[in-house]
Parts: sequence; structure tokens; C-alpha cells
Amino acid sequence: MTKLQLKNLSKSFPVQGKREVRVLDGIDLHVKEGEFVTILGPSGSGKTTLFHLIGGLIQPTSGAICLDGREVTGMKGLVSYMPQQASLFPWRSVEENVIMTREIAGLPKHESLRLAREWLGKVGLQGYEREFPGVLSGGMQQRVSFLRALLSPQELMCLDEPFGALDALTREDMQRWLLNIWERNKRSVLFITHSLEEALLLSDRIYVLSNKPTRIVREVQVPFERPRSEHLPEKPEFIRMRRELYDLLKTVDSGG
Ligand SMILES: Nc1ncnc2c1ncn2[C@@H]1O[C@H](COP(=O)(O)OP(=O)(O)OP(=O)(O)O)[C@@H](O)[C@H]1O
Ligand SMILES: [Mg+2]
Repeated sequence: MTKLQLKNLSKSFPVQGKREVRVLDGIDLHVKEGEFVTILGPSGSGKTTLFHLIGGLIQPTSGAICLDGREVTGMKGLVSYMPQQASLFPWRSVEENVIMTREIAGLPKHESLRLAREWLGKVGLQGYEREFPGVLSGGMQQRVSFLRALLSPQELMCLDEPFGALDALTREDMQRWLLNIWERNKRSVLFITHSLEEALLLSDRIYVLSNKPTRIVREVQVPFERPRSEHLPEKPEFIRMRRELYDLLKTVDSGG
């Protein structure tokens, strides 16, 4: 069963003094139910724009977005979305930020708060439940934003560089439990990262994007068995695939 399908999706933006600039140019992409799919691509290729389209925050120039086989182009609130910049509400406490999307969905507050507190402890934010986001570091805010997406009730999670602002060890911890949680619950995930290791460690499939006007240049099936071993990054096949992705992104970046 296909969870998400993007059909020939294009997006142009008007630019001051010039004609329109085409950012996305005919993107065909899908996520199957329970699949973990990653998007890799140069900075400015339109990955965040793609998420804004999926989340219904902006309208495509052409093409369609389908969720569970139903066209939902331009509709909001149907996916769980973690934006690239943690957008927490400064007047709500950390735990109230985490439960926000559940509140909007009408889920019982008591249970949501229990879950939020449990998870805040797991991501190293115990003691910060009642604080306001302003006292948190960027990486801590990112973890709160990640939990909000994780605990959102929608089946498809769209995560835009969720671990970008974290130090290496925290990042590895976060990857490990995202992997654990995902391997247990098999939620459909669409994931953006600049880290090739992260992409290979977490995903079932990877789409590689070109520079603007952006198209999909390659779709890579990730063959490693699950649960993924901690030692996977040391395996020759992992290193070979990492190298291949690196070379591909290099040619893409130089416009070749
Ligand atoms: N609202 C907008 N109006 C005009 N141009 C826009 C708008 N939103 C995005 N763009 C342009 O679209 C292009 C893609 O931006 P986007 O943020 O999607 O890139 P990205 O792939 O997420 O990059 P990064 O990896 O740096 O996060 C950029 O050139 C950006 O300037
Ligand atoms: Mg982006």
C-alpha cells in the first residue's frame, strides 16, 4: 500500500526583477506504508520546499500529492511535520509544546502529558518539562521539536534534518532510537538529511536530487537487513555505497 505519492510535482517562485525561478521540476516520488525514505540533495535544491508542499503550506505550480490514494494537494494537518528550524511556541512550556499536535487532534491531555514527560526523559530533557523554550539551546529545542513530530498522531512523519543541530554523540543516540522506535512501529517516514551515513543507516530507500531546476537523479534501494547493526558503518558494502553516494552528489553539485 502506498502511503504518499508525489506525481509530477513542480514548483516555481517569482523572483524580484526576474521571471519565475523553477525550483522543483517534475518530482515523482513515493513512500510505501511503513517505509523509511530519505531525500538527499544539494543545499537549495528544494527539499524543504518539497515538505512545505506535502504539508499544504504552499501550493504546487503543477502536479499532485496523494495520501493513502486520495488527492490531498494543498491540504494542511494530514502529516506529522518537523520543520528544519524548530518552531516552538515561546509562551508554551516544553511539555505543552510537545503535546500540541495531539491537543489539536483532540487526544486526551492527561495521557499526552504522561507520554511527553516519559519521552523528554529519554532524550535527556528531564527537568525541563515546565521550562519555556527560550531557556533551551538550539539542539535542545530541536529535540523538543522532534518529540512533537514523533508523538503527533498522523501516520506519515516528515522530518527535515531533525538532527542537524546536535553534537555527534547526541546525534548518534537520537538516530539509534529513531531506528529502534521505527523498527518496532514501522511508521511511514520521509526524512531529509545531508549526512550520507545517516541516510544509509536509517533508510529503506534514498532519493538523490539534482540542483535547480530539481529532478530526481537516482533512487537507491538500501539492502542492509534489519534490525540494523551498530557495526553497519564499518561493513565494506556500507562504505562502498557511501562512496557511491558521495561521488554522485559531487557530480550533481558541480552541475554535471
Ligand atoms: N517562498 C519562497 N520564495 C522564493 N523563493 C523560495 C521560497 N522558498 C524557497 N525558495 C527558493 O527555493 C530554493 C530551495 O529552497 P529550499 O529551502 O527548499 O532548499 P533546501 O533543499 O531545503 O536547502 P537546504 O539543504 O539548505 O535546507 C532556494 O533557492 C530558495 O531561495
Ligand atoms: Mg532545507
